[in-house]
Order: sequence, then structure tokens, then C-alpha cells
Amino acid sequence: MTSPLLHNSGEWNTLLDELAPSSIIVLTDHNTENHCLPYFLSTYLEGEEFIHLSVLPGEESKSTACAEELWSVLLEEEVDRKALFISLGGGVITDLGGFVASTFKRGMPFIHVPTTHLGMTDAAIGGKNGVNFQGLKNQLGTIRQPKAILIDAKFLDTLPELERRAGFMETLKHALIADAAFWKNLKNRDDSTRAVSNEIIHHSASIKQRIIAQDQDDFGIRQSLNFGHTVGHSVEALTGISHGEAVAFGIVAESFISNRQCGLSDDELDDICQVVFGCLTPSLSADLDTEALIQLMKSDKKNEYGEVRFSLISNIGKSNIGETVPIEVVAQSIAFALSKMKR
Ligand SMILES: NC(=O)c1ccc[n+]([C@@H]2O[C@H](COP(=O)([O-])OP(=O)(O)OC[C@H]3O[C@@H](n4cnc5c(N)ncnc54)[C@H](O)[C@@H]3O)[C@@H](O)[C@H]2O)c1
Ligand SMILES: [Zn+2]
Repeated sequence: MTSPLLHNSGEWNTLLDELAPSSIIVLTDHNTENHCLPYFLSTYLEGEEFIHLSVLPGEESKSTACAEELWSVLLEEEVDRKALFISLGGGVITDLGGFVASTFKRGMPFIHVPTTHLGMTDAAIGGKNGVNFQGLKNQLGTIRQPKAILIDAKFLDTLPELERRAGFMETLKHALIADAAFWKNLKNRDDSTRAVSNEIIHHSASIKQRIIAQDQDDFGIRQSLNFGHTVGHSVEALTGISHGEAVAFGIVAESFISNRQCGLSDDELDDICQVVFGCLTPSLSADLDTEALIQLMKSDKKNEYGEVRFSLISNIGKSNIGETVPIEVVAQSIAFALSKMKR
């Protein structure tokens, strides 16, 4: 089962009437409290009473300490299992809120209201909730679907430009793995700001939603969503650049591998380099340690028997999962992506 995507206040009100919660909890971080909560209240929660929880912005809040504080407040406030937990924020807040709600008293209903591009098109969709533990990402968590995901691109108006561009990488990825027409639409739009329309956000979210629906257990087609992320995650871990920048680099590198291994044409490869690095050029120096990157890829949990496996594309819009790639080609792909970066 996947969660419905809600598109407007009419659909939202219908769901709220159906759920008839005993109380409402809204979790924000301090940024979404300032930038998103006023609009959210006036558009979606007018006149409703609610308990407000707010945490510091940033990945550090995805912690057991933070979860414990939130559970404590829920207990103090005598929240019961018929209450509704709403997470209003980026991926940090929906991951944390989903974790707290899905474990409190063995699970209470929750709704995600993502406020970043990455949240709307990626993090809030799929039912993975969790926190980091002992310095490692997403070590503790649950898989439980929210009752719904409310997607309103209006929240993006206040999102910093770099966050916007970073999130846009996930949308480009969705087009590359699943929808050639969408790719054309994305690359032909005015990219002066990369501000995106509600339609683009909804379409991107619905691609992830459709893929999840076909593979709840994460053993098959869901792996197509890793495109750009095998190289991307290792670059992110090694250099500490942002996820979005690392994924931009990863998409270009893995498109090169797709060109060498699964028939992605030279023209398509060129096109991808132009569009991706045109939107976001990673802040990487040319002396990236390829050996270390490959070690990180080999130790990734998704790789069995010491091989590096990739989710690639055979054309724009067509994914090809579970490809084993020779190490030399991986090394060439890193040199290629470095050479294509606009410095
Ligand atoms: N559960 C999943 O399947 C999944 C998938 C991908 C990523 N994630 C997780 O998502 C997290 C990253 O998400 P993110 O990039 O949204 O980060 P984030 O939640 O940290 O948000 C980025 C920054 O933008 C601010 N912000 C959020 N919305 C805003 C708005 N509308 N206006 C102004 N500022 C705003 C936040 O306060 C924060 O400072 C990571 O922890 C990652 O592990 C989860
Ligand atoms: Zn990503």
C-alpha cells in the first residue's frame, strides 16, 4: 500500500474529517516554524487546536535524543493513539516525525507535509522513517506509510536556492529512470531560477510513488531510484559535499557507465552532462581520490560478494537495475565526470 498524495485543501479537509483525530501534533524545525507554519495554519489548519513541537534545523536532530524528547512531550500531553502527528518540514523532519509517530504507543497515524523539493519528491514518499545512530545514517527506523502526503509547492518559495537545486537533482533522476517525455519538459524549461511548478513536483513525486507501489519490499525495481547514488553517496561520504551536489556528480558518472555498459547513446550522455551540471556544479577539486571512492562503493551494503552493482539507464527514461560494473569503468566514470564539470 502507498499513501495518497494530497493536492489541495479540499482533499486535506476530507481526510481530516475521516480521521477525526483526538488531538493534533505539528512537528517543525525552527526554519519551517518561521517560513512554513503560518501559511500551513491559515491554509490547512484554520481554527484547529494543536500541540506544536519544534526542533533545531539540521541532520543532528535526526537522533534518538531528539526522538526521546518528543516521545516525552507526547506522554506529558497525554496524547493517545487516535491523535494525528503532522510533520511539517524537509526530509529531516519527516524522517524524525515518521519515526516518533510510528513507534509511539506502537504507532499513531501520521501525515507528512514536506517543505523542501527533496522532501516532496523523495524523502516523504515510501514509508521509510528513521534516525541516525552512533554517527551512522538511518540506523534505527521503521517502514510504515503515512496516512497521506500533502504536496504544496508554495512552501518552496522560501527555500534557499542551493536546496532547491539539490532537490531538483532527484526530479532529473526520476525523469532519467522512468520518463523520457518528462526529461524533455524539464530540460526545455526556463532555468534562470529553477523555480519549479506544482505540476513538476507532483509529477516527480508520482514517479517515485509508482515505483514504490510496484516494489514495497525494496528488492526489485525500487533499486532504480539508486541511479546516481552509488557514486553519489561515496563522493558525499568522502568529501562531505552536499547530497545534491554529490548526486549531480553521481548522475553524470553513472550516465558515463550507462553509455559504456548498457547502450545509452553519446548524444544522450552529452545532454545529461549539460543539463545536470548546468543546474548544479559540485564544489569538488580535481584531485578526488578514486581509489578511496571505489573502496567506499565496494563496502556499500547493497553490493554483494565484493562486486560493485549499479542501477543504470539504457536510454533516457529506461532503467536497468543490478548491473555489475568492472572497476576500471567506474574509475573512468569519475575521471569523466571531473572533466565535464564547469569550473
Ligand atoms: N525517508 C527517505 O526515504 C529519505 C529519502 C531521501 C532523503 N531522506 C533524508 O532526508 C534528509 C534530507 O532532507 P532535506 O534535504 O529536505 O533536508 P532538511 O530537512 O534538513 O531541510 C534542509 C534545510 O532547509 C530548511 N527548510 C526546509 N523547508 C524550508 C522552507 N520551505 N523554507 C526555508 N527553509 C526550509 C530546513 O530547516 C533545513 O535547514 C536526510 O536526513 C536524508 O537522510 C530520507
Ligand atoms: Zn538522493
